[in-house]
Amino acid sequence: MNIRTLFVGAIALAATAAYAQPVDRMVVEAGKIGAAIRPTMYGHFFEDINYGADGGLYAEMVKNRSFEFPQRLMGWDIFGNVTVEDDGPFDRNPHYVRLTPPAHPHMATGIENEGFFGMGVEQGKEYRFTVWARGAGQSIRVELIDNDAMEETQVLAAQDLTLDDAAWKRYELRLSPYRTDGKAHLRIFLTSGGTVDLEHVSLFPVDTWRGRENGLRKDLVQALADTKPGVFRFPGGCIVEGTNIETRYNWKNSVGPVENRPLNLNRWHYTFRHRFFPDYFQTYGMGFYELFLLAEEIGAEPLPILNCGLACQYQNDKPEAHVAVCDLDPYIQDAIDLVEFANGGTDTEWGALRAEMGHPEPFGLKFIGIGNEQWGPEYPERLERFVEALRKAHPEIGIIGSSGPNSEGPDFDYLWPEMRRLGVDLVDEHFYRPERWFLASGSRYDNYDRKGPKVFAGEYACHGAGKKWNHFHAALLEAAFLTGVERNADVVHMATYAPLLAHVEGWQWRPDLIWFDNLRSVRSCSWYVQYLYGNNKGTNVVPLTMEGRPVSGQEGQNGLFASAVWDEPAQSYIVKVVNTSDAPRTVEIAFEGLKRSVSLGAGTCITFHSDDPDADNTLDEPTKIVPVEGAVVPEGNTLRAEVGAQTFALYRIPAVRK
Ligand code: AHR
Repeated sequence: MNIRTLFVGAIALAATAAYAQPVDRMVVEAGKIGAAIRPTMYGHFFEDINYGADGGLYAEMVKNRSFEFPQRLMGWDIFGNVTVEDDGPFDRNPHYVRLTPPAHPHMATGIENEGFFGMGVEQGKEYRFTVWARGAGQSIRVELIDNDAMEETQVLAAQDLTLDDAAWKRYELRLSPYRTDGKAHLRIFLTSGGTVDLEHVSLFPVDTWRGRENGLRKDLVQALADTKPGVFRFPGGCIVEGTNIETRYNWKNSVGPVENRPLNLNRWHYTFRHRFFPDYFQTYGMGFYELFLLAEEIGAEPLPILNCGLACQYQNDKPEAHVAVCDLDPYIQDAIDLVEFANGGTDTEWGALRAEMGHPEPFGLKFIGIGNEQWGPEYPERLERFVEALRKAHPEIGIIGSSGPNSEGPDFDYLWPEMRRLGVDLVDEHFYRPERWFLASGSRYDNYDRKGPKVFAGEYACHGAGKKWNHFHAALLEAAFLTGVERNADVVHMATYAPLLAHVEGWQWRPDLIWFDNLRSVRSCSWYVQYLYGNNKGTNVVPLTMEGRPVSGQEGQNGLFASAVWDEPAQSYIVKVVNTSDAPRTVEIAFEGLKRSVSLGAGTCITFHSDDPDADNTLDEPTKIVPVEGAVVPEGNTLRAEVGAQTFALYRIPAVRK
């Protein structure tokens, strides 16, 4: 974490600053400990978009490792005598390459993989190469190379491997590059006179998250864990739906031995004509098992979203593209089986698979989402079948329905009542909206129906008008909006910013929470907002008002947004104030209704600000804009503070027994 600490002077700022401008007086009703903040708050939305999985979080460095891409050698350069065969040892990934000796001993036969925009390898680190191969007595050389090297040699690391079996067998060796390179390739070539077959050619850093072999990139998982996420939504997003039903995310294809998980298309390869990525596929190497495990290890509730029998309605909305209602049974069974995979005993079919994969204990699944961005009557009529069956088979599982792709409008107005009729537990709302929407939506949830389904703000981000990239101002407005989410904790139970990850050379969609290249990653300003909320979510809402009204950027509120919570374990109040105006504001926060036996102690103040509203952190300057921590001392029961223009300020004030 990169919060800067600034102690000197902060007390003076809070206690003795000359308050030139008029004071904005807020009241925290400190004795009214209100609705519980759900532990599921402030989570992550994960989808394989922007090379978020293959080429990103999933640490595999070889692209098209099983030679199953439709162009079988995509990602590979070949030289000499190489053929693709199709009777390999893995029935769902049958292709492999055959390396036959060249015509002349001075010639060479081999293959070279380009990775995902190259391969990031670091000096002093080890990389685990594995391959399924056959060819008794034959040998190959395995190298990490830098084709652009100006040095004497292209070779960054090399090992020889001798095969000792005529049958298929898994081999492993380690490569340790003598220098760092973000664009390395993997080269394999024959060094003996006979034929060698190669399948599932794989290269991972040894140093993955928790050292797992089929592992995840450590820096990226750490960035997820650091926000203390309450929920982890996966695997999307639109890839849940697929361009057609056949290419939907099929969780059953994503579990079991990694070598035999069949390849799927990734719709983000062709969704945007201005950003085509023809080499973007889903290997399912990081499948549902790995995603459940990840959720567990970052301390978040797992939240899988499943296909509801509809293909992506943006891409394919003819009735015949979808599963007829009368044919939904296998899809409903997939949902029921998923609960068994996650929670079932090891004596059940799917629970046994989970145990075989390494996790005999249940994953403790509590929620399932059915459908992503659907619309029209075709959605509720399908969802109804899922709800009936799931309620019967697993009444303990919360069901999440969708309100469509928009935060308001005809689809939204149609679907919300339908979700109430079907009695789902939560409704997934999506809003990628511009600044003016975020500024106007601080009160969005104040008047929501308290009796119906709760809200899952399942995909949201501020998309600057004419500025569709990450920048501080967008993050500031997300912070402002979230004060309204926090104030309405009784109705909003989950919220996940989207999308989560983006490769700087392979993105289709921005803004995104975390950016990376093959060696580095950077936490955006929006990430810091999630971090500040996730680490300061408290346990209960406490009413906070200005002249009797919630502070939600309303007329006469000087661009201020604010909310307050009580943190029971820390016995502290946490107040969040966002000043979206261009002028600093002097804020006086009176804590009314404190017990006589309690007083306010010295606390901390964290401020998040950038002088340049268009700036963000970058790979080269990852900590350009980070929160700054200082100290505050209330005067009696009142906290006075100056909140700078365009600043998110967060105060943690302990309640101290006298
Ligand atoms: O987050 C990117 C995409 O936005 C998601 O896949 C989809 O659900 C939404 O349209």
